[in-house]
Amino acid sequence: ACGFRFRVFSDGKRCSTSKVVRKPEVLPESKRQGTCQRKTFVQEQADRLEQANNSILIKCPQKVNQHQLLKSLERHGNIAHYHFFEPFKTMLLLQFERRDGVLSVQQSCNMPRPGKRFLLPNRSRFLLMSKHNDEFPDKRSAENERPHNLLQMLKDHSNVDGQLEGLVQHMQLTEEDIRLRFLVCSLLQDLCTAILPSVQIQPFGSSVNLFGRVGCDLDMFLDLGNLNIERKRTRVQRDSSLEFQVKMFRCERVATQTILSVVGNLLQHISPSFDSIQKVLNARCPVLRFCHSPSNLNCDLTASNRIALCMSETLNAFAQVDARVRPLVFAIRCWARAQNLTSTVSGAWITNFSLTLLVLFFLQQCSPSVIPTISHLRKLADRIDHRVIDSVNCTIVSDLSKITPSNNKQSLEDLLHGFFDFYGSFPFQKKSINIRTGQVQRRSDDSPMEIINPFEENLNVSKNVNKRQLLHFVELSQNASLKLEKQHQLSSNQSWGLMTLLQHGPTQQARATDGAASIHPTPKVERFTDLFHSLWSTKQGNPEAK
Ligand code: GTP
Ligand code: MG
Repeated sequence: ACGFRFRVFSDGKRCSTSKVVRKPEVLPESKRQGTCQRKTFVQEQADRLEQANNSILIKCPQKVNQHQLLKSLERHGNIAHYHFFEPFKTMLLLQFERRDGVLSVQQSCNMPRPGKRFLLPNRSRFLLMSKHNDEFPDKRSAENERPHNLLQMLKDHSNVDGQLEGLVQHMQLTEEDIRLRFLVCSLLQDLCTAILPSVQIQPFGSSVNLFGRVGCDLDMFLDLGNLNIERKRTRVQRDSSLEFQVKMFRCERVATQTILSVVGNLLQHISPSFDSIQKVLNARCPVLRFCHSPSNLNCDLTASNRIALCMSETLNAFAQVDARVRPLVFAIRCWARAQNLTSTVSGAWITNFSLTLLVLFFLQQCSPSVIPTISHLRKLADRIDHRVIDSVNCTIVSDLSKITPSNNKQSLEDLLHGFFDFYGSFPFQKKSINIRTGQVQRRSDDSPMEIINPFEENLNVSKNVNKRQLLHFVELSQNASLKLEKQHQLSSNQSWGLMTLLQHGPTQQARATDGAASIHPTPKVERFTDLFHSLWSTKQGNPEAK
């Protein structure tokens, strides 16, 4: 009746009405020339949050009649989008065209029968279809399908460029993954607004910077809004001499710790969808860590982290200005994971964020450069883009069509090789890396590796990396460069290209003494399988390093 097309879903496949796999296009010429207006990062974020606010998540029985379920939901309002999704295949994420649909469904819901127990009422937008109370299935069950596909995909490509592009297609977040992430933010916001009415929960990090892979964590921050602006407004209304009574804290850090602690208690005691709650409040950047069980997403919630959102916007912009950026970043992150250079727990090793900055810096060094510097992105900015957060200038251009395409025509294989050569001989003791200026500069601290934070230049993003890990990174870069050189001598049934880079190297045991889990030698095939599983598995990091 509403023009909505039903479809019966096959089991065992990711399925949705119109399964749109998010493939962030590189700006086509028409868009660059301004003939087609592209959404800015800020607009995209706002639209996604709006979509999420109009959405519900339903856990259905295993053998649900999907057609019938959708028909009954359609009675509450026009449906804009839906999909039944992995890993459980019994979950339905459904977006109504208007918020009324959500409210109508919620009104039609019953509270479960408490039986002998006592229940706390909860009216979230995560709903259960009655007549089932089965546990969530084993988290790994659906993840197991992909690793082997990835291996096959790498084998199927006839050149390294194809492998790198295939890697992105295989690992990137899909449209449905992204919707689910925004929905989790929106569900969390519902809870938080009960105690802090003007609060907003926003995603940042790899969920929105176009470098996220399926299974990566969901980074969110709790935004209290700009209290100074609210204050100015009340001053303008001179007739109002009334003020709210508010709780005051000694400093922002204490306020942040308090808020995160209260939200942690809310999640723990009131909301059944969030579990494994961990309050890491004494970290440099206090964080609340938890799992959203229905989506199986590991989440990190911080507060007042708007600079990090600007960083995500900047990475997102770099990902879009040239089609080679994402394949390279994905490949380097996977290589580092395979070589145990990165870890799911924090420590003295390089992080994915640092690796991304290394790739970007390298691309700025190419001749001609593949991507511009942040200073250049700032020069292109309009007045409307001007943004200063806590005295930090985070301005970059939002209209990406203003960026001139690069004249660099190097292949992905060349660039990958170039990356390993560049860092295999980089003078880390003397020089630091700065993607704002796109230039190496003299070291300003005594840590082994210095990657200057592009927005807060007094901060070193790689401060946690110790000498041993740096040497390990350099050595493995040299090895990778050699492997790429030698690959032309390999016979057709041997691993080649990206496959050789994703095999664990002989020096991996160096990591064990630095505190990472010890890795025992395993047969080649198993090592591949383990690697692909670990690439796929969800992250259980430790926020101390942030
Ligand atoms: P994943 O490993 O896929 O989760 O990548 P990620 O980019 O999301 O990294 P992570 O979850 O560790 O951090 C989320 C965001 O926090 C990053 O994208 C950065 O914007 C920011 N961030 C992470 N580490 C640092 C750091 O050392 N310094 C600063 N200033 N920001 C950081
Ligand atoms: Mg992350």
